[in-house]
Amino acid sequence: MYEELEQIREKCKNCQKCPLAKSRTNTVFSDGVPNSNLVLIGEAPGYWEDQKGLPFVGKAGQLLDKIFASVGLSRQKDVYICNTIKCRPPENRNPLPEEKEACREYLQAQLDILKPKIILVCGNIALNTMLPNERGITRARGKWFDGPYGSKMMPIFHPSYLLRNDSREKGSPKWLMWQDIQEIKREYDKLFV
Ligand code: URA
Repeated sequence: MYEELEQIREKCKNCQKCPLAKSRTNTVFSDGVPNSNLVLIGEAPGYWEDQKGLPFVGKAGQLLDKIFASVGLSRQKDVYICNTIKCRPPENRNPLPEEKEACREYLQAQLDILKPKIILVCGNIALNTMLPNERGITRARGKWFDGPYGSKMMPIFHPSYLLRNDSREKGSPKWLMWQDIQEIKREYDKLFV
């Protein structure tokens, strides 16, 4: 599995399939545990991810790590993290449909190789790709959906959204995320502990 993933990572590193290849510093393929049963799919690299070649290493990434840590999970031992798009769109704009289309094969290959049991669909860009019939993360979050290879998928808020919404009151995005991560951990424990 590790070898196969490394081959795709190498192919991705040299990818010239869309114009984002010209503006990127690094492709951002994945971080975390390659044989994980738990995969998180984010949106696209931002400034720091592009600089470092790793997903979720900026502010949003730090919050994501805290959210996982709150239920005893970490990217060092439990989670494989990747993005829908492997190159940073200029000024962090949303990826264009043709960029998503060009990049699709890499995410597809990651899921084909890993066959995770649980997939976390993080934010609207990932939602549009994984569950195109759903109408927005606010409605879809917190629910389990059937995913590829018999997996269970749950859409969750993107940590950048949580950074913009500071309230922890009942019903707030942060409060909802806390409910969701606990449900995810319950499912994880049922399957793997
Ligand atoms: N936001 C994402 O969706 N992915 C990253 O890697 C960083 C920020």
